[in-house]
Parts: sequence; C-alpha cells; structure tokens
Amino acid sequence: MKSMQHLFGIAQLSAAQIDYLVNLGYSFIDVNRRAIKKAPTLRGKTIINLFFENSTRTRTSFELAGKRLSADVINISAATSATKKGESLLDTGMTLAAMQPHVLVIRHAIAGTCEFLADYLHNTAIVNAGDGAHEHPTQILTDLLTLKQAWGTPRGKVITLVGDITHSRVARSHLIAAQKLGYTLRIVAPKTLLPAEIERYGCEIYHEFDDALPGSDAVYMLRIQSERLTDNCAFPSVREYHEAYGLNRKRLNMAKPEALVLHPGPMNRGVEIATDVADSVHSHILQQVEHGVAIRMAVLTALCAGQDEAVSETATEAEA
Ligand code: NCD
Repeated sequence: MKSMQHLFGIAQLSAAQIDYLVNLGYSFIDVNRRAIKKAPTLRGKTIINLFFENSTRTRTSFELAGKRLSADVINISAATSATKKGESLLDTGMTLAAMQPHVLVIRHAIAGTCEFLADYLHNTAIVNAGDGAHEHPTQILTDLLTLKQAWGTPRGKVITLVGDITHSRVARSHLIAAQKLGYTLRIVAPKTLLPAEIERYGCEIYHEFDDALPGSDAVYMLRIQSERLTDNCAFPSVREYHEAYGLNRKRLNMAKPEALVLHPGPMNRGVEIATDVADSVHSHILQQVEHGVAIRMAVLTALCAGQDEAVSETATEAEA
C-alpha cells in the first residue's frame, strides 16, 4: 500500500488506505485498555499539536496517542502562540518546523491550511485535525472504527446524518468516505444549512427528519457550528430547531431496532440531541471518544513509518 506523507483529508485516501488505518486503530484499542498504557513504537519522535480552534477530544486524543506510543508531545494553542503577537501562520509553521518535529498536527478555522503549510515545511508530516468547514479525517476514521466494532463493515448500511451540513467538516469528510466505502448517507438538514454542491456526493437528501429514519442503521447527529454562522437566521429558534431536527426517543424508535446513535462531540443536549437518547444503550458516543485515541495512534504510526521508509530509500540511493 502507498505510504502516507501527510494526512489532509479523506479525499486523498483510497479505500485500502482507509481500511489499513482503521485496522491499525483496531489493534491499538487494547493498548489503551491495559493497566500500563505504553508502547515503544514512536520512541525518539516529536509531535507538535498546534490548535488555533477550541478542542477537547481531538487535542487530548492526539496528545495521549503520541504519549502512549512514547513520542515527545508538545501542545500549542492559539491563545498562547506568537500569532497573537502578529506573527503570520506561515512564520509560526516555519518556526516550529525548524525545531525538527516529525509530525505537526494542525487545527485551524481556514480550509486548506494544512496543504498550504505543507508546501513550505519539508521533512515534517502534517495532520489535519480539522480545517474550517473543509475536512476532519481523523474524526471519520474514528467513526469508522466504531462502526467496524459494531458491524464489521459499514458497506451496505444506511447512516442518517443530521444537522448543520454546510459548516460541518465532519459531514464533508463522511460524504467523501461514504462514496469510497459503499455506505448510504441520508442527509437531513434545513435548506439553510445544506450546501449548494450537496448533489455531487450522491447522497439521499431529506428535509423531514421523520421520513429519513425508517431503515436507518445509525443516526449521526451534528452540532450547529455557531462559530461559523455569520448571522442567526438559519433557523427560527433553538426550540423550533430541536422540534424539527433534534433526536428524541420517539424519533429513535422509528429507526431500526438496533440503530446506533453517533455524535462527534461536543454535544448540545436539548438542541440536536435529547439527554435520554445521548445516554441510552443505543449511544456509541463515548466509544467514538475512546476510538479517537486508537485512531490517532494509527495515524501517527503510519506517518512516522512513511518518513522512516523515505529516509532509508534516500540512504539506499546514496549508497548505490
Ligand atoms: C467536531 C469538529 O471540531 O469539527 N468535533 C470534534 O473534533 N470532535 C465537531 C464539532 O465541533 O461540532
């Protein structure tokens, strides 16, 4: 399988690469459940997490993933970085790369930040931890690991994805993954939160939540990305949004009896999801969180292995 230099999005990955990362993640679940959660895989590697947007799950799981694999991990958040003193993103990136880390994990509000930096930062693998409303590849790999554990494979299954599709990088990455892996996405959203180019993903579109639920194997709820909404007229009120697009017990009962409930977090209880549903036996939300660590271990391992291969190829060429 082709080795990976960077991870910008699901779009760059083949179905075989996705399977490889999910399977590798699967093998790390056990490490995270052991009493001593440490493996030597990334000893001597340095990972920098550079987060310009808020994060609990993604940042913590990248940190734990690196530390549990014995890498040295540094965390930088926008609030404390020199960009607050007027330094450009590129200068911050080049400064950090000059310290010779193996991997730079970046979250930023602007789509394409990682590809942009990769053109300038050589010898550093870049991982997209969420770029604006564009992609969030490690979240989707996390979800796929949760689906693997529940179903074996998502192929042929029906997942109903509900909420702010326009501003959700999780939605965009799932739309791409569904086409590659052969699962059906039923999209439910108010017209004001549905992107114009949605048709091109070959998904099914519903405006009435209740119409999408019969036959659904999973219901995946999304948060309204209020930080990306420039005005507040996408829906009349939180109460009305919850009535039309919130997942409650009654609605969950309309899906298949064993349907999974998924959410990337953070949840807004009482808005997109009712508390009793979030805490029900159907909910796999905390499994998603657990699998987030395992997947980030897999991604960091694959990227560092790719770098080691490139170094040994260069050495062989130099010897020849
Ligand atoms: C998501 C994100 O940041 O895109 N959260 C996450 O990484 N778990 C979803 C969200 O913020 O709503």
